[in-house]
Amino acid sequence: MAAPAVRICRRCICSQASKTRATRPRSRIDRIVRVDHAGELGADRIYAGQMAILGRTSIGPTIQHMWDQEKEHLQKFEQIIAERRVRPTVLVPLWNIAGYVLGAGTALLGKEAAMACTVAVEEVISEHYDNQLRELLSSEGVTDENKELLDTIQKFRNEELEHLHIGEENDAEKAPMYKTLSTAIQTGCKAAIWLSERI
Ligand SMILES: [Fe+2]
Ligand SMILES: [Fe+2]
Repeated sequence: MAAPAVRICRRCICSQASKTRATRPRSRIDRIVRVDHAGELGADRIYAGQMAILGRTSIGPTIQHMWDQEKEHLQKFEQIIAERRVRPTVLVPLWNIAGYVLGAGTALLGKEAAMACTVAVEEVISEHYDNQLRELLSSEGVTDENKELLDTIQKFRNEELEHLHIGEENDAEKAPMYKTLSTAIQTGCKAAIWLSERI
């Protein structure tokens, strides 16, 4: 059932008259891939920053475990973005620096602040992935075109939730000014998502 839908979509891309309607699914997937690639890049840099400060402390192996998973997430979205020929966000250089500064900066405040950063970021990212799953399933269902992406998002959502719980179990809430820190980080993450979907 799915194959004809893809053929129709590709054919219509060449038709100016039906361009808006026909390219909508492609635009949706492009947007999803672009923002997820940006998010995973940011996450990779956050954990790199945390490891630079806390790598040799008792929490080091825990951060390393999460970082290793983020490296896989980033690698997968690097692959998807190349295969689907999606343009990465122009903000890649900014997220590169901002992620590292956020990770290292919170780690400098202590292990608890680093974990508070993890909890704040992973909560936003897991919700973001949930929203994407809902959007894809309600608008397109499972198709040959989106199945790999759906499986990837679902797997990564589960691992982001694992990171969230690791942060909670490692005293995130004992961070200085936990609520303020958490709100500031989540506001920044949501702004980064909004921007990365658009430019
Ligand atoms: Fe991730
Ligand atoms: Fe994560």
